Amino acid sequence: MTAAARGTGTFITFEGIDGSGKSTQVKRLADHLLANGHEVVLTREPGGSPGAEEIRALVLQGDPDRWSAETEILLFTAARRDHLERTILPALAAGKIVICDRFADSTRMYQGLSRGDLRGVVDQLHTLMIGHEPDLTILIDMDPGVGLSRALSRQTVDERFEAFGEDLQKAMRQGFLDLAREFSDRFRVIDGARDMDAVAGDIADLVSAELA
Ligand code: ADP
Ligand code: TYD
Repeated sequence: MTAAARGTGTFITFEGIDGSGKSTQVKRLADHLLANGHEVVLTREPGGSPGAEEIRALVLQGDPDRWSAETEILLFTAARRDHLERTILPALAAGKIVICDRFADSTRMYQGLSRGDLRGVVDQLHTLMIGHEPDLTILIDMDPGVGLSRALSRQTVDERFEAFGEDLQKAMRQGFLDLAREFSDRFRVIDGARDMDAVAGDIADLVSAELA
């Protein structure tokens, strides 16, 4: 989608394995941009609109085998469509910076890779129902062992995917790095295995460069 079609806003997404520091860093970036006078909408997936938050509970809670792989792709895509219509596109049309914790790249990875090769199905549905890509995607890369222990220490109810364990996280890490090469025009890879301030500083610098 061209910038003109969705106004003058900027769409920034964060990706990475569970526990890599996305939620921490989206807040740090939003605070930094707000302090510099930007209008910012901070949002997340799955979720980010009332309807999509309801779907979030369906996909993240309960038995890991609750949904077939195909049904899960449909649920994540339904949530994304609602989020896009009601939250993301209106904010971009109003010229705001939208910062989103996960987006379609997470579906390419988790639903596309974790239960067989369904990447083609994910891509077809994305083209049909979503059809928007971020201007900038920040991949926070780090060792899956560290990420998983950080994620598990949070003890949330959203544990369907965290229950898949370290092997899946290893495949996801490599998959995200491959995706960063596939979409090298919009992806930037950040080393997440450092203290929060160092990671936040690098992200602020690269977003400033992008906005300039
Ligand atoms: P994600 O959203 O990617 O799952 P979070 O931002 O929720 O990750 O971070 C997971 C946990 O690790 C949180 O308890 C958070 O406070 C902690 N954390 C985040 N970034 C760092 C960091 N750079 N160093 C150490 N701990 C961190
Ligand atoms: P999230 O709340 O970002 O978890 P975390 O903070 O641990 O990274 O996302 C919850 C889970 O949802 C996460 O394990 C990845 C999964 N997920 C998918 O499987 N597909 C998707 O399209 C999205 C957006 C998330």
